[in-house]
Amino acid sequence: MSAFVLAIDQGTTSSRAIVFDGDTRVIGIGQQEFPQHFPRSGWVEHDPEDIWRTTVETVRFALQRAGISASDLAAIGITNQRETTVVWDRATGRAIHNAIVWQDRRTADLCARLKADGLEDVAAERTGLLLDPYFSGTKAAWILDTVPGARARAEAGELAFGTVDSFLLWRLTGGRVHATDATNASRTLLYDIRRGGWDDDLLKAIGVPRAMLPEVKDSAADFGTTDPALFGAAVAIRGIAGDQQAATVGQACFRPGMLKSTYGTGCFAVLNTGAEFVSSKNRLITTIAYQLDGKPTYALEGSIFVAGAAVQWLRDGLGIVERADQTGPLADAADPNQNVYMVPAFTGLGAPWWDAEARGAIFGLTRGTGPRELARAALEAVCYQTRDLIDAMHRDWASAADTVLRVDGGMVASDWTMQRLADLLDAPVDRPVVLETTALGAAFLAGRQAGVWPGEEGFAANWRLDRRFEPAMDEDVRSAKLAGWHDAVRRTRTAG
Ligand code: G3P
Repeated sequence: MSAFVLAIDQGTTSSRAIVFDGDTRVIGIGQQEFPQHFPRSGWVEHDPEDIWRTTVETVRFALQRAGISASDLAAIGITNQRETTVVWDRATGRAIHNAIVWQDRRTADLCARLKADGLEDVAAERTGLLLDPYFSGTKAAWILDTVPGARARAEAGELAFGTVDSFLLWRLTGGRVHATDATNASRTLLYDIRRGGWDDDLLKAIGVPRAMLPEVKDSAADFGTTDPALFGAAVAIRGIAGDQQAATVGQACFRPGMLKSTYGTGCFAVLNTGAEFVSSKNRLITTIAYQLDGKPTYALEGSIFVAGAAVQWLRDGLGIVERADQTGPLADAADPNQNVYMVPAFTGLGAPWWDAEARGAIFGLTRGTGPRELARAALEAVCYQTRDLIDAMHRDWASAADTVLRVDGGMVASDWTMQRLADLLDAPVDRPVVLETTALGAAFLAGRQAGVWPGEEGFAANWRLDRRFEPAMDEDVRSAKLAGWHDAVRRTRTAG
């Protein structure tokens, strides 16, 4: 049987498709960026047709680059930007509103109302999440309350809700399958991750009719087959996971205590806590890392909304670099005597602050400040925020103490940034050889289900270290820098 597996990685700024061979080697990649829409301050939307078109085109391109046809594939795995919400018409398959992206803050008022109604504890106990606009449920409710007639149609079962995996699955299967996996369901604020089911109390409080929800399956499961008209053959879709969970799998973090952090548009640190649902006392979230054979594996997650997006801003907003990879060398040349801090709260602050109304700020500017210091401040902000997350994890769960952080995502190609990360964490950082961990995780789930790839242990044995970064910063320098960062965050926050 063929062992080729294709992963669709539908991310925040681009859609990608990657073909892996039976030895988990990449043999074909397609990638396309698509437009971001910012209709108001704090609002972020995608056109679902852009998501769909770029997905189909990149799959075709990746197959072509790999020199294989769809009939050579054993399976497809889907991984996706999480929380981004689509509501579509079951009859036509067309969305009734643009997708509301995970970064979007428009439901801050609704979240405040739910908090005032005393829902915070119930939500945390059942979903592991906080009442923040980040998650999908309130975004779906906003669409139903805004598009005329939508709520009644949703109640009548005419409309479907889905995160991006679900929307793609619907389209890929020609409208035959409306499903998602437990990791994506765990980001909606509507799914009880202990019990494993949609929660009627939360559905009612948030205002999302059950009739529009997808079926929730394991992350490795049979999700139907692609419409043969799309790629020339019907291919089985056998894996789905949110991108951060897929990266956790791709980094082979299968044992409790293992930790990864992915630096994409945002940064997401995920700590495997095994069968244990660990409730955070430090404003992290509890989520499903993956669900296999009906058993959820839980994780603590720290979510930062802006990581690579800060570098993108240096490039596209300020124009101080032409390419993202120029930021590391620029930062390296910064004046060590200037203490410039950037708090990149462009769309509010995520964990552990959860301040939806905060906006970005730069502190410590002098006449001598230039592109070098700004580049360093942007890259260091990502490191400081990772430190905040990992400190919170250590406080929440003693077993996290001995973990070495595994990193992946676009930014980890920068040696300067990874060294600074190890310096500011005061702990080693491991960068693997394969940096396509998100796609690899999705491919693993699909390949496992198709029976063509090894199980977890065999897969973990293939994980290879590229480089370990060891901390080398003096303790007094580190402490002074961390204190400066916390002061900058304090001055940026809008609430206590
Ligand atoms: O929760 C949002 C996350 O899934 C987005 O990931 O890689 O598109 O920044 P990324």
